Amino acid sequence: MTDRGEAAFIEELHAALGAAVFTGEDIPARFHNDWSGLPPVRPVALIRPRETAEVAIALQIASRHGITIVPQGGLTGLAGGAQPVAGGAVLSLDRMSGIEEIDPVMASMTVKAGTPLEVAQKAAEEAGLFLGLDLGARGSCQIGGNLATNAGGNRVIRYGMAREHVLGLEVVLPDGTVVTSLNKLIKNNAGYDLKQLFIGSEGTLGIITRVVLRLQAKPLTVNTIFCGCQDFPAVLELLKGARARLGPALSAFEVMWPSFYDFMTANLSELRRPLGRSHGIYVLLEQSGFDPEVDSGRMEAVMGEMLEAGVVEDAVLASSDRETRDLWAVRDSVSEYGKLMGPLTAFDVGLPTSCMAEVVAAIEAEYQARWPGAILLVYGHIGDSNLHLVANVPAAGAHQPHDEITDLVLGAVRAAGGTVSAEHGIGLLKKKYLHFTRSDAELELMKRLKAALDPADILNTGKVLAL
Ligand code: LAC
Ligand code: ZN
Repeated sequence: MTDRGEAAFIEELHAALGAAVFTGEDIPARFHNDWSGLPPVRPVALIRPRETAEVAIALQIASRHGITIVPQGGLTGLAGGAQPVAGGAVLSLDRMSGIEEIDPVMASMTVKAGTPLEVAQKAAEEAGLFLGLDLGARGSCQIGGNLATNAGGNRVIRYGMAREHVLGLEVVLPDGTVVTSLNKLIKNNAGYDLKQLFIGSEGTLGIITRVVLRLQAKPLTVNTIFCGCQDFPAVLELLKGARARLGPALSAFEVMWPSFYDFMTANLSELRRPLGRSHGIYVLLEQSGFDPEVDSGRMEAVMGEMLEAGVVEDAVLASSDRETRDLWAVRDSVSEYGKLMGPLTAFDVGLPTSCMAEVVAAIEAEYQARWPGAILLVYGHIGDSNLHLVANVPAAGAHQPHDEITDLVLGAVRAAGGTVSAEHGIGLLKKKYLHFTRSDAELELMKRLKAALDPADILNTGKVLAL
């Protein structure tokens, strides 16, 4: 892009959208990067529309000038999907926030895309319903970004990925066409299910502006247990047993290896170690139900059997909201990485659950052989076959061996038949590795879809696919 073209683009934006457009020093630094850890990039312009029509105008202008638009939500993504690109503008949905409607009979909620997840969760609960989507960044992330990345989180085992929570959406295509498809019907088989094209497309095919979310009945009971087990095979027994005995009431099954549990509880003074002694591996398990008379009794019975069978070595059941919060605090401490460690190399891989322990052990052995004493925290949503690994080589300071660590970890995942991303998406950081998980035919079809919807390649240019 020539500077003259850029100047003409900005002039036209100013003329059409006025106070919604910011340039140069007027762009606050927080729009220069997302949480991926990539170095900041100042966009040529920041656009903060208030309504869908303004998004459409911005995209029409960008298309005419061939300038990239990077859509931004709460910026909490870890793969670089919302990272500005050199010579491109960013379009933040932050001013398009708010609940438009809650329909208690259809159990649906219509929200603007810039609504923070936590705001939507609270609104659903105030209406006596429940939004099943939940993740650690709930206070900052936005619904539009959750959908654009098909976010996962802590309750996927019960309620599914972000995709499962969507009934309809409104999207603006790169040429400015607005497609309003605010469907509320659970069953609607009239032609292609177009919303699925945009969910998980990481802002490369269209910009989501409004969403109809599917709500759930609000659970009447929640029981939370923290368990210590001897080893990963015991965790698999616990998973099978809890799934068989609790059925759909099993609403979280989070596993922490000692590398994670010991590091976090040793370094964060506010964390209480839930169990008296150390164990080979730890599980946070949640049951959500509708029968206050029997639910906690069932959970206790399941745990009693597991303890007796030696599957669980020790367990603590939260008996108050405070204790529940304390148990979750150990898992939610991931939000403190920034404080505890330097630059990270983080993974959200998916693996067949039965081979996870071996893959982790092999990665740990090779990692320690190459970077002795370096940090590698392992934990994850094991009920969903989704493993997180977080690496930092203290001796490397600001120059972490990101590529070498990624080659090691994702090479092992590929060999085990896993996926390079189970929940965070591809963005920029995992782009080089997408072919580890997708076939040539799959990649070609993705490219065909991109070319059909965004022929000028202006939307989140250079993300996800190597074109
Ligand atoms: C987690 C985020 C990083 O589960 O996905 O902690
Ligand atoms: Zn996660």
